[in-house]
Amino acid sequence: MAAALALGEQGRLTAPPNPWVGCVLVRGGEIVGRGFHRAPGEAHAEVVALAEAGERARGATAVVTLEPCAHFGRTPPCALGLLEAGVRRVVVALLDPDLKVSGRGVARLREAGVPVDVGVGAEAAAASLAPYLYHRRTGRPLCLLKAAVSLDGRTAAADGSSQWITGPEARADAHWLRAQSQAVVVGAGTALADRPSLTARDVDPPVPRQPLRVLLDARGRVPAVGPLFDPALAATLIVTTALAGRTAVKAWLDAGADVEEVPMSADGAGVDLAAALALLGPRGVLQAMVEGGAALHGSLVRAGLADRLVLYVGGRLLGDAGRPLLAGPGPATLAEARPWRVTATTPLGPDLRLDCEPEREQER
Ligand SMILES: NC(=O)c1ccc[n+]([C@@H]2O[C@H](COP(=O)([O-])OP(=O)(O)OC[C@H]3O[C@@H](n4cnc5c(N)ncnc54)[C@H](OP(=O)(O)O)[C@@H]3O)[C@@H](O)[C@H]2O)c1
Repeated sequence: MAAALALGEQGRLTAPPNPWVGCVLVRGGEIVGRGFHRAPGEAHAEVVALAEAGERARGATAVVTLEPCAHFGRTPPCALGLLEAGVRRVVVALLDPDLKVSGRGVARLREAGVPVDVGVGAEAAAASLAPYLYHRRTGRPLCLLKAAVSLDGRTAAADGSSQWITGPEARADAHWLRAQSQAVVVGAGTALADRPSLTARDVDPPVPRQPLRVLLDARGRVPAVGPLFDPALAATLIVTTALAGRTAVKAWLDAGADVEEVPMSADGAGVDLAAALALLGPRGVLQAMVEGGAALHGSLVRAGLADRLVLYVGGRLLGDAGRPLLAGPGPATLAEARPWRVTATTPLGPDLRLDCEPEREQER
């Protein structure tokens, strides 16, 4: 399964909105076929592995990171392909929550008399495929908050400057995170302060498709100029409310951006964030990477919509006049603070990457 997972990872940048599945075929203790799903419309992992194995697939065990599909889509069902090739046993890490599959692939194989083991390597597969699983279960993307912070947890100095909190290794890693996300989201404050392009740059191999840039601007404050509005760089979606004037909306549309209107958030901080994220699911966004700033991050955490936190910690001390990581009210007392746990720590040159996620209910 570790080999199948590593194969699946090769499709992470190109397979979405499909899952980055990997498959190996094993016969007599030897891997006779390997495959991963590269892109929508292209062969599924099982089909690629079967093609490599040829006749050697007969009597083999198929090890797949996600349940084989059972429906006719752009490609024929993989469960059928495995049966026709004479595979003797199937080992699956996870059932596929996609409503088109959800247990039917495994059922099809078992009905045909092929034993199927489910759950082998499930934890590692769930970590690898987290954005896909989340998207299929909820209809909206996994929401990953990213920030560069000083040692004392500040995201910008008193004058708003924030670009060089971390060094080149951390910044290159953040471009990888963008490449792995199908949308990069910022608030109006960051768009005005930094004039960002929000593209995934210097990633090798180059990204086949840039993530959708998403600007949350409830009142039409961000003018339709600069790299964010250069359609040659990437597509841009503005999520706004009825408070944005017609002139702002027309300027965004004229610049080639998409514009969607949602209600105002209940606390008046900006757009309704659940509604904004719900717009992204149907656009094939499995992971939305939110790059700040503090006001937007604060709103997402308070709304319980932050699923992951990636902090790049750099060696500066900015003091309490600097911008915080989260603006706005927090819990009144420690007992009210939702526990998060650090799932990985990665040194990047002189800086440190912290991956964090909220503790699940059952772990508390
Ligand atoms: N270190 C880092 O990693 C990092 C990352 C990003 C930014 N920064 C720095 O952070 C500063 C900007 O941060 P900021 O806190 O001022 O602005 P921000 O969070 O980028 O944007 C806040 C604005 O976004 C709009 N918005 C729309 N919906 C929202 C919602 N539901 N909740 C909150 N805001 C919503 C609001 O403006 P409307 O009401 O007009 O829509 C709000 O005023 C800059 O100095 C930038 O350089 C640092």
